[in-house]
This record gives sequence, structure tokens and C-alpha cells, in this order.
Amino acid sequence: MSKYQYDKKVLKGLTPFPFLGEVKARNAAIEAAPATLPRSVYNANILAKRLHPAVQHCRIAAVVDHGDAKSFTLVPDPEKGTTEMAFFRASQYVSVALNIDGAPVCKPYTIRSAPKDALGSENTSYTLTVKRTEPAYASAHILANWKEGDAVDISGPLGDFYYQDLRDAKQVVALAGGSGITPFYSMAAAIVDGTEDFELTILYGSRRSDGILLKEEIEALAEKSGGRVKVVHVLSDEEKEGYEHGFLTAELIQKYAPEGDYSVFMCGPKAMYRFCEGECKKLGLPKRRYRMEMSGDYMGAVNNPDYPKEQIGKSYSLTVDIRGEKTVIPCKADESLLWAMERAGIKAPAHCRSGECGWCHSRLVKGQVYIPAEADGRRLGDKKFGWIHPCVSFPLSDVELSIFPTAD
Ligand code: FES
Repeated sequence: MSKYQYDKKVLKGLTPFPFLGEVKARNAAIEAAPATLPRSVYNANILAKRLHPAVQHCRIAAVVDHGDAKSFTLVPDPEKGTTEMAFFRASQYVSVALNIDGAPVCKPYTIRSAPKDALGSENTSYTLTVKRTEPAYASAHILANWKEGDAVDISGPLGDFYYQDLRDAKQVVALAGGSGITPFYSMAAAIVDGTEDFELTILYGSRRSDGILLKEEIEALAEKSGGRVKVVHVLSDEEKEGYEHGFLTAELIQKYAPEGDYSVFMCGPKAMYRFCEGECKKLGLPKRRYRMEMSGDYMGAVNNPDYPKEQIGKSYSLTVDIRGEKTVIPCKADESLLWAMERAGIKAPAHCRSGECGWCHSRLVKGQVYIPAEADGRRLGDKKFGWIHPCVSFPLSDVELSIFPTAD
């Protein structure tokens, strides 16, 4: 045997002659083929379009008021060409197209309902639950303006903050803060209806017992789950019997974590992630065993230890090049390039707003920007050749940017 460990005798036995006939057969088939164009629409493309539509035209079918939040049921708008909602993985989000005082904005919201609710051509729907959260420009706009019958355009389902049995442990501990309950609500609903098969223990942090979003609804799901979904309420500002008091600490995770291997999923404000990541480390969990939902505006870049503090309060010019047409707008040092473009009325591509989806992928032609390391979701090639994500890029000088909006 050679050093490559193959038997040369086998290769010697192969000759090209049997293949020569193939060329003849192929030429004959080409000659005999009709002079019409081949099929241009394939079943795989039709399915891909159903699962990943660029836009879903919807109407608001129902609104439920929860006090400081509202739930909106969205149904397809066949008159505009959407006849069914795209199926999704429990805890994915859609990016909602808004126009706020003339500024075109895309904002991600988790689909709170069960994936099965999207199936079928009748009663196909998504539910989004929106709470006023900082920065409140989008949530305040939605809470004040959206009403039954209104038209809403949303993207297809996005994001990878879902349960994946090849990657995640069969038992999941969810750490939810406030409206961060919505992805876990969808997971719980999917476990109850049989779409998902794992066990979920939700440690649900709220300030007080009278302000727990979707409390009765999530408890009803746990009740129906046959023990596969458990909910533990944790109050930071109130001590009350039947509730845990304090924060989502390592001790609390350990108290309620199942026996054996488990994954931790987190959804809530950025401060909660920093705290809870430290708690996961205290428990000795390997990095692959805890995950965070990142979609939503990247906030507080100027507070990062590596942010050049002398930039605070400065303002620069941002030249935006769209297919050769240039517009110059102002951009504050502490706001992302995406925010600056939206404020100036430029419809820039975006979905997650947090550096991870790559939808806003644009070319930095001139200038310097600050990109927080924790939100830098670019590939190595992008970094090398000057591509950035404007949703998490903050100007450090005058900047020129080429953006590539899609036709819709
Ligand atoms: S909008 Fe997702 S990376 Fe910028």
C-alpha cells in the first residue's frame, strides 16, 4: 500500500471508455429536447418563499390590553397578496415595518403565539405582545396607534434563538425578564401542542406580583403541559408568599434546575444578560450551554469600557450612497449609523438591530466607526474588506457608507 493507503490496482482497473458513451447519450438527449424554456419555478422555490417571505402583509384582527402592554393578533391580508402566515420556530421574531413621524423604521418583535397557530389557510395568525421598553420610540408608537383593522407589514420569521436538539440539552432553564417572557411563552405553547419536545423551567423575573405580564396565560400553559413546563415567579421589589424574591442568581438556577444536563436560555434587558452570564459561569456551565436573545436596539455603547469617552457629545456627517446617489446627513457619536439614517428618512435595510442578522450589511467607504465587540457579528472577510453592520456602528469621524436597500 502507498503512504496514502489506497490500492493502486483498483484505480488501474478504471478506464474512461465506459464514460464516452455518456457524452453521446447526452448530445442525443439535447437534440431531442423541445425548443421550449425549461421550468423556471420549482417546488423547492415555492416552499422557500412560503417559509421565508420577504414581506407578509397583515391586518390586526384583535387587540388585548394588558395594562402596560398589548397583544396584537395579526392575520394575512389576501387583498395585498398574503394568504397565510409563514410557519416559524417557537421564539423566532419578525421585523415590523413602521413609519414614525416620517421615519421608516424596522423593529423586531417575538412571535408570542404557537407555531401551529400559523398553519393552514383559515385562522392562520401570529400574536405579538408589545410592552413599552426603552428606547420607547417604536413600542410607544405601536401602543398608541395600532388598532383593530389596521394594515401592518412584517418580515418573514427570523432569528436563531430557538430550541435545537442537536445543540441544546433536553432540559432548558429559561431566564425571562419582563417582556422577555414572550419567546418562552411560544416555546411553552409549542411543547403543549406537541410541536417541540423538551422540558422547560421558566424563572420569570418581574418587579412586583401585580405587574407580571401574561401571568395567567403562562400558568395555564404550565398546567396543561403535564409537568413539562414549570414557571417560577421571581420578584425583585416585593416579598410575597409563593414567589421567590431577588434576582435570577446562580443559587436560584441551581434550586430549580433539573437533574443532569441542561441549557440556559435568557431573554430580557442587556443588564440582565451581563448579570446572568456571570451567574452561569459561577455554576460552571460551558459557553455552549447558555444562550441569549439578542434582537433589539443595541443600547449603551458609550458605557462600554473600550468606548473612546472623548467622543461623547460629538457629531459627524454621514454620507449615504445608494446606488451612486449620495445624501449627507448628521450623525451623533452616540447613535448608530442606522438610527441616523432612519431619523433622516432613509429606508435602510435592517431587521435585528443588534448586529447578528447581517441584513444591514453595508460598505464603509470612508471614516472610522466604533463597533462593540459583543455585537460584532461580522464574518472575517467582512472585517477585512470594510463591511460593517450600521445598526451597531457608531461614528468616530465623518463617515461615508454604501447601503443596498432591497426593492420592497
Ligand atoms: S439589522 Fe441585523 S445586523 Fe444590522
